This record gives sequence, structure tokens and C-alpha cells, in this order.
Amino acid sequence: PGSPVVLGIESSCDETGAGLVRDGKLLGHAVASSMDEHARYGGVVPEIAARAHVHSLTPVVHRALDEAGLAMADIGAVAVTTGPGLSGALQVGLAGAKGLAYGLGVPLYGVHHLAGHVAADTLEHGPLPNPCMVLIVSGGHTSLLLVRDLARDPIVHLGDTLDDAAGECFDKVARVFGLPYPGGPAIDRAAREGDPKAVAFPRPLTGPRDDPYGFSFSGLKTAAARWAERHTDGELPVADGAASLQEAVADVLTRKAVAACKEHGVGTLVVVGGVAANSRVRSLAEERCQKAGITLRVPPLRLCTDNGAMIAAVGDLLVRAGAAPAPLDLSIDPSAPL
Ligand code: KG4
Ligand code: ZN
Repeated sequence: PGSPVVLGIESSCDETGAGLVRDGKLLGHAVASSMDEHARYGGVVPEIAARAHVHSLTPVVHRALDEAGLAMADIGAVAVTTGPGLSGALQVGLAGAKGLAYGLGVPLYGVHHLAGHVAADTLEHGPLPNPCMVLIVSGGHTSLLLVRDLARDPIVHLGDTLDDAAGECFDKVARVFGLPYPGGPAIDRAAREGDPKAVAFPRPLTGPRDDPYGFSFSGLKTAAARWAERHTDGELPVADGAASLQEAVADVLTRKAVAACKEHGVGTLVVVGGVAANSRVRSLAEERCQKAGITLRVPPLRLCTDNGAMIAAVGDLLVRAGAAPAPLDLSIDPSAPL
């Protein structure tokens, strides 16, 4: 009785994730990352990522099952990321998911990667209120989404970045500052010792005539590079640069997200994606939401970055909403729109 255990598989970028969810509860999950293999190239190499998924998929599924104290035969449905993401990487996860669903004789569900990031929060904080505003900030995305019902309604895309994603901006500037890859966590660490007011970096697209829900981070990246160029090697005040950049990004993100909530009369803001791990994004969102009477929800760090549990969470919602399973010829959608 009750709903089935849903296995979620994520392989859209450099993380191979498997998670098990039933009735909104996380039973177990495991993630393997090929991040170290990409480090010397300064970014994710698609072919390396795809090969790493081939190696990691089966072990990761077994680790998730072990953590949950479950066996393969306990899996009642399989959910898999179909996009957006790297096509070779997505193909590996989809092929694995199809094999498992077919072999176990259980239904298969295709899941949008961003819906997964949104659903991650439900595993920690319970069902999402309808509607809610979602700020999704990762290495590939910076979007404001209006979510009415994750299992039934399409997500309304309010705005996006016109160029780089917020995480990409952190990653690229970190490189210029001589910090290790991935840059986001490195900037966050370096910023602890710096002064956020040291450098007056621009706040792109925050003027009265600008798109209220649009973002742009490439100008900020250029401004940070110009600032770095003005210092000779070894003289660069990295901590101040990192703190000031982080402040600019956090300011723009949280200002627009809170404005979007007010404009649409939405009482809950959910901040998800890898950049939701940023300490200043978190503290400024907290401060501004409190002032505006908005409830802020941020998933715990371990569920913010790519993982299989978040995909299982969407699968679980779909199963419980009675959604139709996908056919076995389900295909990937690398540039999936929302
Ligand atoms: O969601 P995610 O794991 O992968 C996707 O891009 O889908 O996000 C990864 C991004 C990277 O750009 C990384 O630098 C950034 O999230 N990130 C951070 C922090 N932790 C991860 N950015 C700023 N501060 C952090 N603490
Ligand atoms: Zn992601």
C-alpha cells in the first residue's frame, strides 16, 4: 500500500546522482562528481562528463539503495533528467534509466532539470505552497520562475539572464583572481576576509527602464577583470574583490526576486541551484524577505547542487498526481525550455 519508491537519476552535467524518494520523503541518495577531471580545463568537458557517467551510474544507484536499506526490487518507478543539459551526459542517464525501468517492469518519467532543483526543497521543508516564486541560480541558469503546481502546471518563466549565469560569473571571475575551480565556493571563502564595499561593481539591469526580471552578468565579469588588471601580480586584494563581487551578485539577485514576489502577490520565495549555497546570497535574501514579509525557503547545501534526490522528488510528485508515464522511446531534450 501507499506510493511506490521512486528512483531518480541525474546526469545533465558533471554530477552523476541517484536518489530514492517515497511520499515526499528522502530515503537515500548518492552523488559522484567528475569535477576534478575537468578542473585543469577550467570548465566541464562534455565528453569527459559523459564517460564519467558511464562509470558512475551503476555504483551510484547501488550506494543510494544501500543508504536507504533497499534492494533493486523495491524500486517502483524511475525518474530521469531529460534536459536541459549536455546531450552526451543526458543520454547516459536516460539509457540507464530506461534499462532499469524496462528490466524492473516499472514506469518511467522524464523530468526537467530545473523542476528538480525546485522540488529539492520539498525533501527538507515539505510541500511547496501554491503559488511560489523560485529564483534558480546555478552555473547554467539564472531565472525567476512562478510555480503554481509542480506536478500539474507548467512553470511560468518570468525572466532569465541575457548572457552569463550567476554561477558562471563566479567561476570566470575566480579564474581571473587566481582562485581554484569551481569558482563559486572559492569566491565565497575568499570573501570572508574581504570588504564588500571595497570595489563599487555595477548592478546590471537594475535601472527604472530595465527588464525587472532580466539579469546580466557578463558586464560584471568584465568589470571584475578590469579591476584585477589594474593591480600588479601578487598585489591583487583578492578578498576585497571577491567580497565586492559577491555583494553585487547577491544584491541584484535578491532585489529582483523580492520585487517579483511583491509584483505577483506571492508570499514564498524559494532560492535553489548551486549558487543558493552562497553565504551572502542566503543572508541578503533572508534580510530582504523578512523586511517584505515573505517566507524564504532554501534547500540545505547538499540538495542545492545537482543530485538524483531532486529528480526522484519530481518523479514522486508526478506518480502521486497520477501523471502518465513516459514511453520507452522517451528522448533527451538538451535545450529544453520551461
Ligand atoms: O546547480 P549546480 O550544482 O550545477 C548547475 O550549474 O546546474 O551549480 C553549480 C554552480 C557553479 O557555478 C558553482 O561555482 C556555484 O554553483 N556555486 C557557488 C557556491 N557553491 C556552488 N557559487 C557561489 N557561492 C557558493 N558557495
Ligand atoms: Zn543544476
